[in-house]
Amino acid sequence: MTKWSPNSWRDKPIQQVPAYPDLAALAETEKQLASYPPLVFAGEARKLKKQLAAVSAGEAFMLQGGDCAESFAEHGADNIRDFFRVFLQMAVVLTFGGAQPVVKVGRIAGQFAKPRSSDTETKDGVALPSYRGDIINGIEFNEEARTPNPARQRMAYRQSAATLNLLRAFAQGGYASLENVHKWMLGFVSDSPQSERYKALANRITETVDFMNAVGITSESHAALRETDFYTSHEALLLGYEEAMTRVDSTSGDWYATSGHMIWIGDRTRQPDHAHVEYCRGIKNPLGLKCGPSMTPDGLIKLIDLLNPENEAGRLTLIARFGSEAVGDHLPKLIRAVEKEGRKVVWSCDPMHGNTITAAGYKTRPFDRILKEVQTFFDVHAAEGTHAGGIHIEMTGKNVTECTGGARAVRDEDLQDRYHTHCDPRLNADQALELAFLVSELLAKKKHGQAPRQAVNA
Ligand code: PEP
Ligand code: CO
Repeated sequence: MTKWSPNSWRDKPIQQVPAYPDLAALAETEKQLASYPPLVFAGEARKLKKQLAAVSAGEAFMLQGGDCAESFAEHGADNIRDFFRVFLQMAVVLTFGGAQPVVKVGRIAGQFAKPRSSDTETKDGVALPSYRGDIINGIEFNEEARTPNPARQRMAYRQSAATLNLLRAFAQGGYASLENVHKWMLGFVSDSPQSERYKALANRITETVDFMNAVGITSESHAALRETDFYTSHEALLLGYEEAMTRVDSTSGDWYATSGHMIWIGDRTRQPDHAHVEYCRGIKNPLGLKCGPSMTPDGLIKLIDLLNPENEAGRLTLIARFGSEAVGDHLPKLIRAVEKEGRKVVWSCDPMHGNTITAAGYKTRPFDRILKEVQTFFDVHAAEGTHAGGIHIEMTGKNVTECTGGARAVRDEDLQDRYHTHCDPRLNADQALELAFLVSELLAKKKHGQAPRQAVNA
């Protein structure tokens, strides 16, 4: 294997590169970023890796979620808080159902760069560069906004730092205390079908906490009751930015991506001899790898060889995103190859990216397909005797209308009401909580040794 360095990716073929008109300005920005403080530190990434090792051993579950694309426009405290509340609610539902720790990883504080299927977008005969995420260009359809601008990388860095700061405060400063389990309910969710279920669960947790307090286990004496570990993740797509944020850890001498705790490789940029795999193989953070329908068993093993040559548990999370119809065909073959080779991985299910359709002129995702993909993912793992280790979702704490369906059904004609995403359609708070309840049932069934449930519509 050739020698790795933070910039060795530059000698490889690369996909999804923005056409910056001013390369000198880009180089200057990258130089500045390289002098900025890291956003996360290596010890945290190692701690996450350890927790993911427990997931790979079947002893914990991973919840990963957040925006498809964070935006500069939606950078308010309310947005971050509302996301975090729903995320905590989901985590508590999953912890209860599975009676297992839930490893909490946000798609947040760095999830800005987007791969696109076309380099250009044409409207009324005018062709402009495609929107590639706020870290690269603006979403407005005019030449100035769409021209890649390196200054946006500094804005993304600052936004990531501020977001992470608030999340750390929430996670460690008392907001995430189990004593607040009732307070995480969002106003607009409180009259939904999910709210009744959630309130019933929160009551049981409160009773348990009261009991523990009575026997002397209090949030003052036990940190686990009053705080939680929350990690950040994003797709490592914009490699110039990632390189600038790559630093040596002084305690181990190893290289770490300090732009987030975990980074992943997208389904479109996972060619084994290309730049994104080259960059990721050299850093020691936990990695994700999206696996879509074109992933073959041999191709997967080759990528695992490159990304986790020492077969370290917790290093690699395989994020299956096949679509509700295809997952049953593709996933078993990949699982068998991994099992045959004895590779330690976390299997996670992204039920979003294989289930995107167009309805009423909007890119959307039907909730029943999302549920069906998750259900099939669990069924396949039960049949193979492997651990369905996590879910990876696009979600928001806001009451948006971007995915159709759910208990309080969003119809095709409702999509126009509150369709705010900068990229792919997200679950709203109601739908996210509903999904968490379904997954918690699947986890509970598994825990209590019952037969796996059949597909939703069987
Ligand atoms: C994403 O997670 O937003 C994404 C682009 O996914 P994928 O690489 O799986 O298509
Ligand atoms: Co997406």
